[in-house]
Amino acid sequence: MSVWKLNNSHVQYFKWLLGSESAVIDGVSKDATADLEAFNCDWMRKYRGHTKLVLRPRSTGEVSRIMKYCSDNMLAVVPQGGNTGLVGGSIPVFDEIVVSTARLNNIRSFDEVSGVLVADAGCILEVVDRHLAERSYTFPLDLGAKGSCHIGGNLATNAGGLRLLRYGSLHGNVLGIEAVLPNGTVVDELSTLRKNNTGYDLKQLFIGAEGTIGIITGVSILCPQRPKAVNVAYFGLENFEKARLAFREAKRHLSEVLSAFELMDGGSQDLVEKVTNNRPPLKGKYPFYCLIETSGSNKEHDDEKLGGYLEFVLNEHLISDGVLAQDETQVRSLWSWREGIPECLGHWGGVYKYDVSIPLPELYQLVDDTRARLSSVGLIGDDENFPVVGVVGYGHMGDSNLHLNVSTRGFDKEVEKQLEPFVYEWVQKRNGSISAEHGLGIAKKPFIGYSRSHKMLNMMKDIKNLYDPVRRAIPDGLSTVANVYNQNEHVFQMNSLTGRICENEILQVGWYLATRQLERKKKLRAR
Ligand code: FAD
Ligand code: MLT
Ligand code: ZN
Repeated sequence: MSVWKLNNSHVQYFKWLLGSESAVIDGVSKDATADLEAFNCDWMRKYRGHTKLVLRPRSTGEVSRIMKYCSDNMLAVVPQGGNTGLVGGSIPVFDEIVVSTARLNNIRSFDEVSGVLVADAGCILEVVDRHLAERSYTFPLDLGAKGSCHIGGNLATNAGGLRLLRYGSLHGNVLGIEAVLPNGTVVDELSTLRKNNTGYDLKQLFIGAEGTIGIITGVSILCPQRPKAVNVAYFGLENFEKARLAFREAKRHLSEVLSAFELMDGGSQDLVEKVTNNRPPLKGKYPFYCLIETSGSNKEHDDEKLGGYLEFVLNEHLISDGVLAQDETQVRSLWSWREGIPECLGHWGGVYKYDVSIPLPELYQLVDDTRARLSSVGLIGDDENFPVVGVVGYGHMGDSNLHLNVSTRGFDKEVEKQLEPFVYEWVQKRNGSISAEHGLGIAKKPFIGYSRSHKMLNMMKDIKNLYDPVRRAIPDGLSTVANVYNQNEHVFQMNSLTGRICENEILQVGWYLATRQLERKKKLRAR
């Protein structure tokens, strides 16, 4: 049973507000289970929500009116973009109303001189990039989910992706944001200026906030020229230390043309081979593989640089074998051995994903240690008697960002107990981050204290309280009950605009008390 008391009159209001039938998926007045399914389940099929209502506004004004109504009526919402997030943040696990950005999909303007794009938050990354490609520009972010993820979702998660090494983080590229606060206020900061030192840079608060303080509806972003010359090489290496040295040399030899340096372990590549049945790029098998990309404006110049680099790493025996793409098709084919990993990992049923930042020298050690831990308790094996199929590592080596993945025959509590908090403690000991680029969502919310101090957490809570008036109105003593923050000191509730409550009777009592107290406060204020 949901605690949101969503009723028919709410639904009627939204239908009236949004006008068209297709803008409201209504599971309140009728059975809409099939239509709601895609919004209730995440890409990994790990998190499940039970929303009965999805709203698909077409304009910032509509988002604003939705949020105001939800705030006034104490209805919780969760923003959802392309629903490709990997930490469960977009899933209505507490039965929130889903506000989908799918119909906010206009490219508003593009300036071919400055390279500044202004677009709705619900534009699909690949669609935007195609628009830019026709004008010789590119979006400063690329990732495997580009065909589905929205640029608003990218900002909300501060996605890193495959070329952060080259274009930097979205914190640097985003010039402006339009967003709607939980009370319906529109934050109109869609600046196209590169320089604007007039006080706090508040747009940054929304980047990586995972929808906790507002729904991003518009984005203004600086886009670089599309590179005219792209080279991709893929090579095999004997050990991780050689991969580390190959990266150091790549920076030295390729400097300004280096656009990606990705690491894949042997296990991840065997997996792609097994699942896709494709022929691997190299004849031999190696414990590690790297994919390196250069992007520039002068092919001859880049070829010469890359040639010099490959000669050096071969002569120094840093790499054992390698292959260089000869055309567009081969470029895509080599990238598929890296970009195809996440999809292949889910092949057996479930996957536990840990996206972590670790200082480079120890980057891969976490994979070995995790594998050893799961082996020592007899959880890994080749047949159905073992829950774990394999432990693999890959990631954005150029950013010290490892993706540790444990592929399983299904989600399994015993496996989870071995992994958490083990992985987080391991990362904390190395002063790493428990979330490099995927965010916290539901998955990592309880573990934020492994990467952030109490002081920083308190500052974050203050900001959330300031911008979410319903949350602020709930008295402190009840905030735990209402699952806002602080089930313990490490917890910081992410991703809920007017609050998230568990379906549990005790919590419902807490919520009831909280709403009563809010009403009393409102009355007092009115007097
Ligand atoms: P969703 O999944 O819909 O939402 C993600 C979070 O943002 C949720 O908390 C949601 O509530 C919030 N949100 C969404 N839209 C808005 C909005 N307009 N305003 C406020 N909050 C909002 N991530 C990387 O960083 N790097 C990668 O290389 C990468 N590769 C991936 C590859 C694959 C195959 C897949 C499936 C995922 C990958 N991801 C990667 C993760 C994911 O694609 C990104 O996090 C992406 O940015 C999410 O965008 P989305 O539109 O799907 O957001
Ligand atoms: C990637 O780099 O492929 C993505 O972040 C997705 C993943 O971690 O699997
Ligand atoms: Zn990644």
